[in-house]
Amino acid sequence: MRTQFVLSAAGLAAIGVIVAFAAASAGVNKPDPGAGKVESVMCATCHGSDGVSAATNVPNLAGQHYEYLMEQLIAFKKGTRKNGVMNEMVRPLSLAQLRNVAAYYSTVQISMGTAKESKQR
Ligand code: HEC
Repeated sequence: MRTQFVLSAAGLAAIGVIVAFAAASAGVNKPDPGAGKVESVMCATCHGSDGVSAATNVPNLAGQHYEYLMEQLIAFKKGTRKNGVMNEMVRPLSLAQLRNVAAYYSTVQISMGTAKESKQR
């Protein structure tokens, strides 16, 4: 009887640890588009407030695939993709922040048309 109690208490503690771990790792793994929208304010000057860029020499980010955005952001951070502005923009940001902004831009709804009118070269 007593042993059984000790065992179940240990069992409960173990479950507690597993639940806490799952919750913590869910927090790390799940990007938050809402937080990303707030963080994207620093990107808006060039990429537009909704990821549709005002300047024709800056790429649109709205509706872009999350995986692609993350690949580019990590490449800018590592310096394997070189662009002075973007390398500097991304350098101070954490992986969690990058995931959040990538999640935000990937969830912006776009309708396919042509990109903003620009000089055809
Ligand atoms: C001062 C202007 C400027 C700011 C601010 C800026 N970017 Fe950029 N971004 C650019 C330019 C220019 C490029 C194109 C770089 C190149 O030619 O490789 C670019 C490229 C990118 C790309 C690659 C897009 C693609 O299609 O490959 C991503 C992703 C990106 N920026 C995300 C961000 C995020 C996220 C922020 C905010 C944290 C940000 N940028 C802030 C100018 C800017």
